[in-house]
Amino acid sequence: MRWTITRTAPAETSGDLLVFPVFQKDDKPLLKSLLELAKGGTHKPAPGSSPMVDLKKVITTGGFSAKAESIFPVFCSRTAAGWLLLAGMGPTGELTLETIRKVAGKVATQAKAMKAARVLVHLPGPQEMLFDDRTFARCWVEGAELALSPTGVLKTGKKKDSYPRNWKFLARESIPKDLQIGVHEGEAYTAGCLLARELVNMPPNYLTPNEFASRARKMARAEGLSCTVLGVPQLKKLGMGGILAVGQGSSNPPRLIVLEHKVSGKGGASSKGKASAKGKVPSIALVGKGVTFDSGGISLKPGAGMDEMKADMGGAAAVLGAAQIVARLGLPVNLQVIIPAAENMPDGGAVKPADVITMANGKTVEVLNTDAEGRLILADALWYAGRRKPDYIIDAATLTGACVVALGSHFAGLMGTGGELIETLRQAGGETFERVWHLPLVKEHKEIMEGTWSDLQNIGGGREGGAMTAAAFLWNFVSEETAWAHLDIAGPAYSNKASAICPKGGTGFGARLLARAVQILVS
Ligand code: BES
Ligand code: MN
Ligand code: ZN
Repeated sequence: MRWTITRTAPAETSGDLLVFPVFQKDDKPLLKSLLELAKGGTHKPAPGSSPMVDLKKVITTGGFSAKAESIFPVFCSRTAAGWLLLAGMGPTGELTLETIRKVAGKVATQAKAMKAARVLVHLPGPQEMLFDDRTFARCWVEGAELALSPTGVLKTGKKKDSYPRNWKFLARESIPKDLQIGVHEGEAYTAGCLLARELVNMPPNYLTPNEFASRARKMARAEGLSCTVLGVPQLKKLGMGGILAVGQGSSNPPRLIVLEHKVSGKGGASSKGKASAKGKVPSIALVGKGVTFDSGGISLKPGAGMDEMKADMGGAAAVLGAAQIVARLGLPVNLQVIIPAAENMPDGGAVKPADVITMANGKTVEVLNTDAEGRLILADALWYAGRRKPDYIIDAATLTGACVVALGSHFAGLMGTGGELIETLRQAGGETFERVWHLPLVKEHKEIMEGTWSDLQNIGGGREGGAMTAAAFLWNFVSEETAWAHLDIAGPAYSNKASAICPKGGTGFGARLLARAVQILVS
């Protein structure tokens, strides 16, 4: 989609569809500015076109009440675009960022159904909306683009759909910088989320660990990040027994993918905010679980629903998407992204229950269940992330079914040691609507993971508190001095149901959340 800003009068601007957000009061639509626009329009209807209709009557008798997320197309020959699409925003005081995204998503879907290629968007005025233009534009762009997230790319003989390609915001005054920033942010956030969705949706025979590395490299090259990929010999040299053990049962060998975004000269020490106040650019490491397929290994999963385990690289997709957003926004941060990628399969060489392996930090782990593989690859990656002593480490992983049982699919589990970091992720979750719920993590959870024949074992005694015991396992691989947060995204990473801004499949959950958290941490 192409997003531009114009300051030509709404009624006179040509396009296929003019979107008009309408707010609500006492269950009724506030139509004043719309009717003024229609009345004031000097656009001359084509000769012989239908006579003027009573716009207000059509709208109110047509049942449009401006309820949030309702939409109502109506023809108005007084505007150059002809078709108006009224978008219900609900009452002014109840508008949320997510409502803006959902409204934009519904509008985009309707515009597509109407085969409108050029869509104009009237901006709500400050008297009707409490958010500024930057915020509105950012969320609108996100909602519209995410709603039309591409699907079915592997279907053959499918005609390319037509969809609304050109969008124009109709600015009230001279083109405001604010609006431009909002559009730019919206585009960056969307692209990161779409990258994550695309990767999650890819079939596991296409997206092997090596292919994931190629995709990461391609993104890094395009965005000016550095990218290093470690193969089996290098993993052996580093003693990464966790990643090697998980990958050893598959014919597609594991990889460790490392991307870096460094602050350029001017964005660095001279940048405003917390970072420069401390005289230092913050360093953040993002670690994402990249199990490109999780069969469970020798502790094989049941067949039903096993296909969904292609999404077990959702954490990796999220951190990669976040890195793309951070790069596009040029945030003043030293960011390292670390992705352990492996395929968990059961062949003759696979790791077995009771095998004891040695991790990169030297600790020994008894593998009691080969299906608790995510923590094994993350442990080595967390150790790798800690070598540079970053200020913050955040990992994202589709780690436990227990977290899905506890929180369902609308919230990710959030655990960790950094108080400020936890708070930041909560704030970012509220703003991006990629919501998180803080779960406890204490030394008693750690004790459950102590081993009988080794330092640690990879599962706890029973089924209790599975999200926390998994996090406690990871805790052993993070240094005490580093603020660390762990996101268990097993629930929200994948959905079998479409929503207003997401088709079914990979949701891209985490990319926007993590990028926003980084943005907050460096501002
Ligand atoms: N990838 C799964 C977790 C998962 C479950 C993700 C459902 C998405 C949806 C993970 O590797 C796993 O198998 N976890 C086990 C851990 C258990 C063996 C301690 C689980 O949750 O059952
Ligand atoms: Mn598993
Ligand atoms: Zn897994």
